[in-house]
Amino acid sequence: MKKIKLSIFSSGVGSNLLAIHKATMDKTFPGLIELVICNKTCPAFELSKNLNYETKLISSLNSKKFETLAHNELIYHEIDLICLAGFMQILSPEFVLNWENKILNIHPSILPLFPGLHTHNRVLSKGLKIHGSTVHVVNDKLDSGKILGQLAIPVKDADIKTMKDRIKKYENILYPEVIRKYIWTFIFKKDRVYEGKLVSNKDVIFSY
Ligand code: GAR
Repeated sequence: MKKIKLSIFSSGVGSNLLAIHKATMDKTFPGLIELVICNKTCPAFELSKNLNYETKLISSLNSKKFETLAHNELIYHEIDLICLAGFMQILSPEFVLNWENKILNIHPSILPLFPGLHTHNRVLSKGLKIHGSTVHVVNDKLDSGKILGQLAIPVKDADIKTMKDRIKKYENILYPEVIRKYIWTFIFKKDRVYEGKLVSNKDVIFSY
């Protein structure tokens, strides 16, 4: 099976990088991680090196320079799809246009609610009873591209750390599945091969 070449961008802890890495171990997964780009030293950077991926540290303090260097790396490694996984830098419209429909992001809220930062605090302060996460295509506006998949969990208590960890645990299931489906339906264009899913239990609902 042809495998799509993935690049993961991260500034974070790396749980989604690890989840995607594990997914690629499955021989039916249609992608392979070819390149990891971090914009600062972070646990994801160390994790990526430990997993033996080609790992680049490119500071984004100068965002234009970051984008030029990242673009060159992506071209050099013949990357087909970029997955932002805890990447805390807004990409310019020019960069996004160059990689149109080739950048996915996971954002910790049920978009279009709560784009931007500090989603967990904002959900709690508004008293919402449901929170979640979204995988979407990146376009030139913040957190507003086509929605590909979402998860929802009940807000059980007011503890941000607990809620954040619960969401991440399920993000780590959702993101690889959505990447898998995106590759089949939008890159290989074989809708019938991979159907979307609605999965729910008392703790979580996934829809993709
Ligand atoms: C995830 O919860 C992801 O949704 C969020 O950062 C975390 C990264 O975790 N992304 C954003 O806030 C993007 N705006 P990880 O480093 O463990 O994958």
